[in-house]
Amino acid sequence: MPDEQSFHMTPDEFRRHGHAVVDWIADYQSRIESFPVLSQAKPGEIRASLPVNPPAQGEPFDALLKDVEKLILPGVTHWQSPNFFAYFPCNASGPGILGDLLSSGLGVQGMLWSTSPACTELETHVLDWLVSMLGLPDKFLSSSSGGGVIQDTASSAALCALLAARERATNYISNQTGSDGRVVAYASTQTHSSLQKAAMIAGIGISNLRLIEVDEKFAMRPDALARQIEADRRAGLVPCFVCATVGTTSSNAMDPIDEIGRVCRENNLWLHVDAAMSGTAALCPEFRHLQNGLEFADSYNFNPHKWMFTNFDCNCFWVADRKALIQTLSILPEYLRNQATESGAVIDYRDWHIQLGRRFRSLKLWFVIRHYGVEGLQYHIRRHVQLAQTFAHWVREDDNFELAAPVPLNLVCFRHKGGDAANQTIMERLNRSGDLFLTHTKLDGKMTLRLCVGQTHTETRHVENAWKRIREEAEKVPA
Ligand SMILES: Cc1ncc(COP(=O)(O)O)c(C=O)c1O
Repeated sequence: MPDEQSFHMTPDEFRRHGHAVVDWIADYQSRIESFPVLSQAKPGEIRASLPVNPPAQGEPFDALLKDVEKLILPGVTHWQSPNFFAYFPCNASGPGILGDLLSSGLGVQGMLWSTSPACTELETHVLDWLVSMLGLPDKFLSSSSGGGVIQDTASSAALCALLAARERATNYISNQTGSDGRVVAYASTQTHSSLQKAAMIAGIGISNLRLIEVDEKFAMRPDALARQIEADRRAGLVPCFVCATVGTTSSNAMDPIDEIGRVCRENNLWLHVDAAMSGTAALCPEFRHLQNGLEFADSYNFNPHKWMFTNFDCNCFWVADRKALIQTLSILPEYLRNQATESGAVIDYRDWHIQLGRRFRSLKLWFVIRHYGVEGLQYHIRRHVQLAQTFAHWVREDDNFELAAPVPLNLVCFRHKGGDAANQTIMERLNRSGDLFLTHTKLDGKMTLRLCVGQTHTETRHVENAWKRIREEAEKVPA
């Protein structure tokens, strides 16, 4: 045997480079406003700057960090910029980043309770905390019939809910024999596209996901839902699931959970409530009325990785009856058998989602909640809502602009009165300028601009500047 060699980073090297990386991140945060918010890179440009072949010999760490600065940063859209108003927030924070780093440092794979009891138990505990922090029904507590689990995304949560609903409605037969094409599910025309993907993956089929019409506020119409369920039953189909949304992606519309819930209860359908972004607002009691009716929900989810300062990815998903979820997703090969599982005294989260392996995500959530405290989180959410409401007020007061939808929280849908082409031009010019980033949707068939306030460090001056820049670009648009 030749002498043993090691190419690994030693603990001392790790300490030194780790400090450099943390310094780099802190500097990045301080200078983030100097970058164009939307990356100005052309397709293929970043790849073309990278070496064709991987290095045969390892390189010094300093070279890696230099290349991040030189080669990678130009291709980064700065989601953490306070001038990022596009899509929905994906905010992060110091405690979130450090919690994530610790999770990497521990390198735990928490598929079973026994593969790291703390990974499971901290997660259960933090999700129970959140039930009371958000004013959710007690049935979602782990000490009740339900419980919560951290998923990667709201898309995965919706898929799990749909699978459990399908199984409950078919007496757990579909898992054995496959879906027979008669199972139907319901969402609104405004529901996030992840529900269509879930219908594809769950074998329900996109045409068996009924998209229910919405009212003038873009919220699902419970009467139309009830009629469609009735028609499907008469046609011999098996309705199983409804997804209601608290804060749709396009316009932040609020489906009436209470009325939809009653329809679900009468028809014995699984009600899943998707509050991906807006669920965070429930930290503040004054916004909880937006999700009245959660007592009817079989499952609920929101993304701390959107608006609760917890860096991507982190989705919190609760079910009212954990048995239905576990019976749907549980599978136990010999090599995973262990005494703790057999005892029935522990939670094995591998039975609560699609994948087997899982990161220690609850660490970052725990850090965020402990760092800010409930009051700190409430303060920042209220500030974001206030800023969006102020922006909506400016739009209302300006003769050249109009609001395109109600503004319940932190998303403002608005448009210049000059028509689609004018709005398109305004948006493209703003985004090309790098000063801010906003995106669009279509409401009532018209191009609509969206300004979403939710970045960690967005303050009054950023929203003021956004409005100033929007009006400047609007003035250049031909009448
Ligand atoms: C209401 C709603 N649901 C689901 C999603 C999908 O989120 P994720 O990326 O966590 O799957 C989004 C993201 O925009 C959303 O706004």
